Amino acid sequence: MKKEDLATSKNINLAAVELDYEGFRKLASNPHLTVHERIGFPAAYREKFEQAIFEDICRKLPCLRETNKVIVDIGPGCANLPRMLIDLCARNGHVLILVDSQEMLDQLPDAPHVRKVNGFFPGNVEAVRTAAGGPVHAVLSYSVLQYLFVEANPFRVMDIVIDMLVEGGEVMFGDIPNASKRKRFFLSEGGIQFHRNFTGSDDLPTLPSIGSGQNMIDDSVLLGLMTRAHSHGCDAYLVPQPSTLPMANRRDDLLVRKP
Ligand SMILES: C[S@@+](CC[C@H](N)C(=O)[O-])C[C@H]1O[C@@H](n2cnc3c(N)ncnc32)[C@H](O)[C@@H]1O
Repeated sequence: MKKEDLATSKNINLAAVELDYEGFRKLASNPHLTVHERIGFPAAYREKFEQAIFEDICRKLPCLRETNKVIVDIGPGCANLPRMLIDLCARNGHVLILVDSQEMLDQLPDAPHVRKVNGFFPGNVEAVRTAAGGPVHAVLSYSVLQYLFVEANPFRVMDIVIDMLVEGGEVMFGDIPNASKRKRFFLSEGGIQFHRNFTGSDDLPTLPSIGSGQNMIDDSVLLGLMTRAHSHGCDAYLVPQPSTLPMANRRDDLLVRKP
């Protein structure tokens, strides 16, 4: 499928499209898609899970439940998670900076506590800093690191995000597809059974061959990013998602805390 068609096609096989920042801009403008499809997810992966995902985010970024903080969301998209975050920030007196393409941001409500910064992160980091007006208490980037990994330098992203943090600040790179975790799962009895139930066949799951994972985050990338955070004086943790979330068997969350 051509990238231009992402903005107009009625039927898009999202599993077959390799999305990037420009691809998301196109999806965001497509009037035929649901809000979930505009951020690259078939409805089944998001529709009934957003509340549980949001509660998990709030557990992992405890400062969201405090008051009068500065929060940055890199890649909020246009579905319901950023709407929940906008509401929570209004209730708790937080300033919220949303960083995404203009096409995504235009679909989210405006509010006095919300500042929208358009453009490709981290290229627009100075505008993000200006919008924050000082150090940031929490950074959320949910289901975005896999795109930053391909199109930006993830170590530079880690450096920049940590540099924005106040002491005691916290970061969640959430919902990261981890190719190593996926492989471990599909080599297990439980993973084979999961695959067979999903496909309705007796086949074994297909595992990537050596060298085929060029654009994929795996254990080595995540451990490298944790080491990078450590080298900046931060704590870093790779933590699981609740098993009730749809991709918990192959995704991880990376949490960073500045002491
Ligand atoms: C899979 S969606 C996730 C949206 C939202 N965080 C959620 O989980 O509901 C990825 C989002 O990241 C945005 N994105 C990807 N690369 C980006 C970049 N370099 N700078 C800013 N936004 C980016 C896309 O436009 C898209 O809105």
